[in-house]
Amino acid sequence: MFQQLRLDILKRLEKYDYIIVEEPKRADSDLAIPLFNVSKKEQIPINEVSKEITSLLEDHPLISKLEFDRGFLNIYFNRELFSKEVLSNIKDEKYGTLNSNGKVVCIDYSSPNIAKSFSVGHLRSTVIGASLYKVYEKLGYKVIGINHLGDWGTQFGKMIVAYDLWGSEEELKKNPIDYLQSLYVKFHEEENELLEEKARETFKALEDGDKRVLALWEYFKEESLKEFMKMYEILNVKFDSYHGEAFYNDKMADVVKILTEKELTEIDDGALIVRLNDDLPPALIKRSDGATLYITRDLAALLYRYNTYHFDKVLYVVGNEQKLHFNQLKKVSDLMGYNFDITHVNFGLVLIDGKKMSTREGKVVKLYDVISEAVNLALKAITEKNPNLKDKEEAARKIGVSAVIFNDLKNDRKLDIDFNLEEMLSFEGLTGPYLQYSSVRIYSMLKDETIKEGLVDPTLFKDDLYYKLVILLSQFSNTLERVILENGPHILSRYLLNLAATFNQFYGAHKVIVEDEKVKNTNLILIKAVRVVLNEGMRLLGMAHLDEM
Ligand code: ARG
Repeated sequence: MFQQLRLDILKRLEKYDYIIVEEPKRADSDLAIPLFNVSKKEQIPINEVSKEITSLLEDHPLISKLEFDRGFLNIYFNRELFSKEVLSNIKDEKYGTLNSNGKVVCIDYSSPNIAKSFSVGHLRSTVIGASLYKVYEKLGYKVIGINHLGDWGTQFGKMIVAYDLWGSEEELKKNPIDYLQSLYVKFHEEENELLEEKARETFKALEDGDKRVLALWEYFKEESLKEFMKMYEILNVKFDSYHGEAFYNDKMADVVKILTEKELTEIDDGALIVRLNDDLPPALIKRSDGATLYITRDLAALLYRYNTYHFDKVLYVVGNEQKLHFNQLKKVSDLMGYNFDITHVNFGLVLIDGKKMSTREGKVVKLYDVISEAVNLALKAITEKNPNLKDKEEAARKIGVSAVIFNDLKNDRKLDIDFNLEEMLSFEGLTGPYLQYSSVRIYSMLKDETIKEGLVDPTLFKDDLYYKLVILLSQFSNTLERVILENGPHILSRYLLNLAATFNQFYGAHKVIVEDEKVKNTNLILIKAVRVVLNEGMRLLGMAHLDEM
């Protein structure tokens, strides 16, 4: 709604198509227009400009006052009318300018590697991607969520070599993923060139379709998927496609063909490469033994996605450490003449006690364990705070899982995040439980009251705290637009924290349930709108809301 009014104003000022309508830095107005540049451009004295613009805006029903001050024209909304409009829109779940543009966006997220356990590291891609999925969808995009499973590559050569050397079938069947992971760690501890060579041969055998090796790989994949699906169920995350790297095995020849036809390839020391200049090292397309690589599969995937979904843009939610890979991917596809809109939605590491985790050294924290612990801690907190709550386990699950998700999404994704369970489960501070608790607090006031829709005391919105809540509510849709501009769910997270904090401030300053019917009803309408937006915002982040906790 806020944004709508801003656009409305811009529309009225169309003839100054360069004009800026911004949120004021100095005044207590709602919007401000800097007039210096207009005056300069139009060659009219600033006072005249101010008069002219005022005359274009002053009869707008939602504007109550226009005031020229130190180079700016300050715009004051009609608080009563504006508030009424905002609240009634939220009631009808019309949050503002959610334009349904029908564009297609492919989001590649989660994409764990099979035969390894799902680590806290993969959590980031999963929750950032899942949240972007929901926000894009909300804004009218057609979204395709793709789990580009890491189910192909030399690591399977290594794993199979390790299994052949040190493994036992009995152990494998007992606990496949942990066991494979420990074999993988052992392989790397050996640091043996001969083993590496053997691993390359074994991967080649896999690519050539060797039956025994293939059967092992299939078993690894099946077991891994079982574990991944458990995680996705806990996190309530879904995908439209699980085509992993192996899916592209028969689609890479085409890529190589196009690259060769366009004369982009070279043979370098027996390997097929594409030279990229631009400070980027060459992209290695095929090794000298004919084995294909990660980027070759990604190129095949990119073309497949374009031909299948006709995307307008494609996002890769993958850690900072793969920056070079995605720069190369983009560059190669540009050289091929596609000019796709590709964004590497990169993110930082998860640190535990300030230290990085790595699969190879076996220092992996399993997400499953972490979430179980978060849920246990939540259960402990509920048992202390609200021992009579029905279905404590269910509530603890919602609080624990959401706390882990919010801990990730509240930070600018590019930064490293710290992982501290105690902190993320606190009911105060910048946490998931804080948001949930604010919503629950509202519910506890609403549940025994009936709202009478027409009964409003509009003069209440002259109060700064009432109005501050309204303004925040009116900025919800605009906040979502900003999320996708930066592909940054943290923008929504911070907005929700701000909304919750403002609500709690309001709650501290005003009694909600009062004698006066009109005032009470206005309060109820306002806080209900806050709950609607809080809950919808949490849903877009992948969190759950509760009625009680
Ligand atoms: N499997 C990779 C990893 O865990 C991530 C894949 C990301 N997606 C892609 N299309 N390359 O590092």
